[in-house]
Amino acid sequence: MKVVVTGGAGFIGSNLIRYLITNTGHEVVIVDKLTYAGHLSSLPDLQSNPRLSFERVDIFNAIAVKQLFTEHKPDWLMHLAAESHVDRSISEPDAFIKTNIVGTYNLLHSAKHYFDNMEASRKSRFRFHHISTDEVYGSLEIDDEPFTETSHYNPSSPYSASKAAADHLVRAWYATYGLPVIVSNCSNNYGPRQLPEKLIPLVITRALSGSPIPLFGSGENIRDWVYVTDHIEALYAIICRGRIGESYNVGGRNQLTNIEIVELICELLDQAMPMSKNTKIKRNLRDDLTRYADLIEFVPDRPGHDLRYDVDTCKISRELAWTPKVTLNQGLQETVRWYLENKDWWQPLIDRK
Ligand SMILES: NC(=O)c1ccc[n+]([C@@H]2O[C@H](COP(=O)([O-])OP(=O)(O)OC[C@H]3O[C@@H](n4cnc5c(N)ncnc54)[C@H](O)[C@@H]3O)[C@@H](O)[C@H]2O)c1
Repeated sequence: MKVVVTGGAGFIGSNLIRYLITNTGHEVVIVDKLTYAGHLSSLPDLQSNPRLSFERVDIFNAIAVKQLFTEHKPDWLMHLAAESHVDRSISEPDAFIKTNIVGTYNLLHSAKHYFDNMEASRKSRFRFHHISTDEVYGSLEIDDEPFTETSHYNPSSPYSASKAAADHLVRAWYATYGLPVIVSNCSNNYGPRQLPEKLIPLVITRALSGSPIPLFGSGENIRDWVYVTDHIEALYAIICRGRIGESYNVGGRNQLTNIEIVELICELLDQAMPMSKNTKIKRNLRDDLTRYADLIEFVPDRPGHDLRYDVDTCKISRELAWTPKVTLNQGLQETVRWYLENKDWWQPLIDRK
C-alpha cells in the first residue's frame, strides 16, 4: 500500500509514521507544512528509510494538494494535519478555519477527482481516513452517558467547531460522491513527542524546570486519556477493517479531573527525579517547595471550557476488536521517562518562544 499521511510531523502523526514503518511494509509519504507544531526531529531518519518520503505542503494550497495525488497516487490517505490547540484557536482562529476546514475541503476535492479516475483494480482499496476529535460532541454533565457515534455535534471552541465542520464535509463527500471515507473521533492523547503546550507535557516540562504549573479554573474539568500508541493501533484497525462511511469513537477509558492527572504526574516525577536531585530546581526555588505538586497554580478558566468529555467505544471494540492496552499508570510512567530522557527534543521548543 502507498499511504499518504498529512500532519505526519506532528505528535500523533509522527508516532503513526513510526508504527507504519516498524509494523507494516507500506510505503509512506509524510505531508506536512511544518508549522510550529511539526518537527522533522520527531520523525525516524528519512534518509535511511527507503519506504519513507517527505513533502512540505500546506493543505490550504489547493494546487499543491492536487499535485500530491497526481504524483504519489495513494491507496490510503490518513488525514491528521490540523491546527490542534484549543487555546490558540481562541486567540487566533484564522489558521483553524484555513487548515481544518478549507484544507480538508482541498483534500476531499482532489481525492474525489483522483478516486473517480482510479484504475478499477485499485479503486476498491482506496480510503480517505479523517482523524478527528471527541470535542466535536461538546460537553457532558457529570452524570451524562458517554457520547456515542450517533450523538449530535455541539462544539464549543473554534478548534472543535472547525473539526466538526471538517467531519461534516468528509461525510458529505461520502453521501454525495461516494468517496470511501471513514471518520474517527478520539479523546485526549498523551505520550512521547507531544508539544509542551499540551497539558501532560506542559506539566512535566514546567515541573522539571521549576516553573509554575498552571491549571485552569479549579481543575475540576474531566477528560478521558488515551496513550498515543493505543490510538494508532485503533487508526490502523479502522483503515484496514473499518466500514466505509462510518465513524468510530476511540477512547482510553481513563476519566480523570485535570487536578487528578496533574497530581499523578507530579507524584511520578517525585519518584523518577526528586526535587532534591533536580539541579535546576535547587538553584531556582525556595526551600519550602518539596514536591512538584507545590508548583501548581490555579489560573482563570478558559472561556467556553467544556466540563467533561467521554466517549463510548463499544462500536470499535465490537466491530474491530480494538481495546486500549496501555493503563494510565503505564502510559504516564513511559511518558515521564521519555521526557526525562529526551530533553534535547523539547528544550529547544520552549527556548525559541
Ligand atoms: N492530540 C490529541 O489529543 C488529539 C485527539 C483527537 C484527535 N486529534 C486530531 O489528530 C490530529 C493530529 O493531532 P496532533 O495532536 O498530532 O496535532 P499536532 O498539532 O501535534 O500536529 C499537527 C501537524 O499538522 C501539521 N499542519 C498544520 N497545519 C498544516 C497545514 N496547513 N498543512 C499541512 N500540515 C499542517 C503541523 O505542522 C503538525 O505537524 C489532528 O487532526 C487533531 O485534531 C488529536
